[in-house]
Amino acid sequence: MPKNRILTGHRPTGPRHIGHLVGTLETWAALQSTHECFFLVADLHVLTTDYAHTQCIQDNIHNMLADWLAAGIDPQRATIVLQSAIPEHAQLSLLLGMLVTVARLERVPTYKEQVKELNLQPSLGLLTYPVLQAADILVYKANTVPVGDDQLPHIELARETAHRFNQTYGPVFPEPEALLSKAARLPGVDNRTMHTSYGNAIYIRDTPEETTHKVMNMYTDPTRIHSNDPGHVEGNPVFIYHDVFNPNLEEVDEFKLRYRSGRIGDVEIKKRLAEVLNVYLAPLRERREKIITQPRMLMEILHSGTEQARLISRQTIEEVQVYMGLLQKQSSTEYGSIVP
Ligand code: TRP
Repeated sequence: MPKNRILTGHRPTGPRHIGHLVGTLETWAALQSTHECFFLVADLHVLTTDYAHTQCIQDNIHNMLADWLAAGIDPQRATIVLQSAIPEHAQLSLLLGMLVTVARLERVPTYKEQVKELNLQPSLGLLTYPVLQAADILVYKANTVPVGDDQLPHIELARETAHRFNQTYGPVFPEPEALLSKAARLPGVDNRTMHTSYGNAIYIRDTPEETTHKVMNMYTDPTRIHSNDPGHVEGNPVFIYHDVFNPNLEEVDEFKLRYRSGRIGDVEIKKRLAEVLNVYLAPLRERREKIITQPRMLMEILHSGTEQARLISRQTIEEVQVYMGLLQKQSSTEYGSIVP
């Protein structure tokens, strides 16, 4: 069994923003040279909060994939998988669901938050969201799952479930470990969490003009009324962005010094930020533009990755069924034992 297998994914909720880029996509792209990577388009998970409005899913998948590739996800080196096209995800989720109590799932913090936010009766699908996520990971016997810290409760559940399965039926699954992104979470232009539904995100696909417009309207230090008032740098999103995107460290230090002592206006700092951000994003945007005009190529990449993944998922399900006593072992089949 490979010790270096990664599985991670996103729900296809639309184009990716720069928070996705520096928080996750850059990490994923780098992992491709050290790990065997599976990147999952988790379209089934989208349905857990809204099963009725499915007309934009295809478009969202398309846009998300274009951004993934623009950010350096390379189908030659990684396997891109469409969750709903692989029945073994659902099948394993059902089987693992037998090993998890309802009470345990009701305690998952992301579930509790969603229930509060949604203001409606949670569906069975929402409750079992983390079981499906555990199946996503375990169906490929992935050991490592790069995620943001909001996903930690789900990885914990996947570990517990793998452990329980192994204890009950035999050593089939590795207990997967989360790999937390080192990059700090990028705030939105209004200083809340960057989120598509908040309208505070800068997208990879935005034009330079749109980007500049968003930057010029960014939230800065609310205590600073005049440009000669001393300003706050810490926690100021304009400076957080400069730290991430401006390669000229001396310039950033100088900006901070002048800002703190009230010797530079917000406008100047924002103008420079818009420039560096547009330079940073230019090569991605160029790649994206080429990719987005080739929808057939995108679908082929997704199709062939999914086909490859399916060879593995089928094998895992067969093994699971044998271990669970649902299927008689074919005398010729050898299952790779897990490396602890
Ligand atoms: N729940 C993840 C998110 O919202 C998406 C996801 C689905 C995922 N299946 C996964 C992440 C498996 C890692 C591993 O971001």
